[in-house]
Amino acid sequence: MTVHEAAVPATEHPHGAPRTAAAFRAVYGAAPEGVWAAPGRVNLIGEHTDYNDGFVMPLALPHTTIAAASARPDGVLRLHSGGAEGGVVELRVDDLRPASGGGWAAYPAGIAWAMREAGLPVGGADLHFDSTVPTGAGLSSSAALEVVTALALNDLYALGLEPLRLARLAQRAENAFVGVPCGIMDQTAAACCTPGHALFLDARDLSLRQVPFDLAGEGLRLLVVDTRVKHELGDGAYAERRAGCERGARALGVSALREVPHALLPEALPKLAGEPVVQDLVRHIVTENHRVEEVVARLDAGDTRAIGPLLTEGHRSLRDDFKISCVELDLAVDTAVAAGALGARMTGGGFGGSAVVLVEEADAQRVTDAVTTAFAAAGHTAPRIFTAVPGAGACRLA
Ligand code: GLA
Repeated sequence: MTVHEAAVPATEHPHGAPRTAAAFRAVYGAAPEGVWAAPGRVNLIGEHTDYNDGFVMPLALPHTTIAAASARPDGVLRLHSGGAEGGVVELRVDDLRPASGGGWAAYPAGIAWAMREAGLPVGGADLHFDSTVPTGAGLSSSAALEVVTALALNDLYALGLEPLRLARLAQRAENAFVGVPCGIMDQTAAACCTPGHALFLDARDLSLRQVPFDLAGEGLRLLVVDTRVKHELGDGAYAERRAGCERGARALGVSALREVPHALLPEALPKLAGEPVVQDLVRHIVTENHRVEEVVARLDAGDTRAIGPLLTEGHRSLRDDFKISCVELDLAVDTAVAAGALGARMTGGGFGGSAVVLVEEADAQRVTDAVTTAFAAAGHTAPRIFTAVPGAGACRLA
């Protein structure tokens, strides 16, 4: 299914397209040529594996970033966001250079830059954005912004690019223009997810499979607990982990940690004895890739409940080996599991953001209450808890 065919029921964007089109008209004085949407995501399992050429399994949220846009013949790029201060950002596509745009506008500007760098005939445009994807919550608001821009420019300039190509351009924009060394998971999720499925992605060759993930039909729920602790991918810790993984791969003589088979981990780890930090990073990546494959196998076997313990194991690995959890994420996971959840783990880059919790439908309220109470008792900001229903990838709305 291409992005263009991935129609989203209008109910998932209540009034979204008309409201965003009206906002565009108010800002730019004319109706937009079109309106597009791209979702945020949660990752079910497979954390920090993408830049190790490994496996990930995200699903799209119903939360979306919507763009209303028109092409401009004069090479001017105008960007406006309903959620940001500061009015219209005006740039010239010819002048775009990495790190030349600041703040939120760097993401859409980076897309125009990456497309032109790739030799694609992209000119100016007017864009207005509205979003329901929480920012700083580990739910990939930046990838939603990038991918919706990429899809809008793709259509406005009739580029005919496939969703995966748009995802790669979006990653290129984030890596080289914005300066965040992220992997390919979030952009692929925003471009390629389909309703009712989790996306099993091999980050090495970008082959992907839509795995049915109909929790409601099985009496289950996936809760998202946004801890309200803002994570910041650009703060250096992400890049540090990535560099540590690359060091581990070099020390083991492989081009990426994905090549270390789980069964050979006991042989590989002693080779890293002189570098305990790298040893821990490698242990996480190799066991995490294995957990993703196990989750897929259990879902394929129709045994959804059996993925719970793998989620919780994954959290322990991220906490103890990869060392990217925080007290609020640990509290959310520990409390949810103690209150009867089937499994729980932090999701996304770490150091804050959100956790995912797999629960029986009948236990959802009890688990939600337990987490809320535990946060209050610990003096933390109240978490935002909602149910993730696997939604659609990027598409044109109007
Ligand atoms: C962020 C990055 C992704 C991925 C995750 C961790 O979301 O953008 O590429 O590395 O962290 O799994």
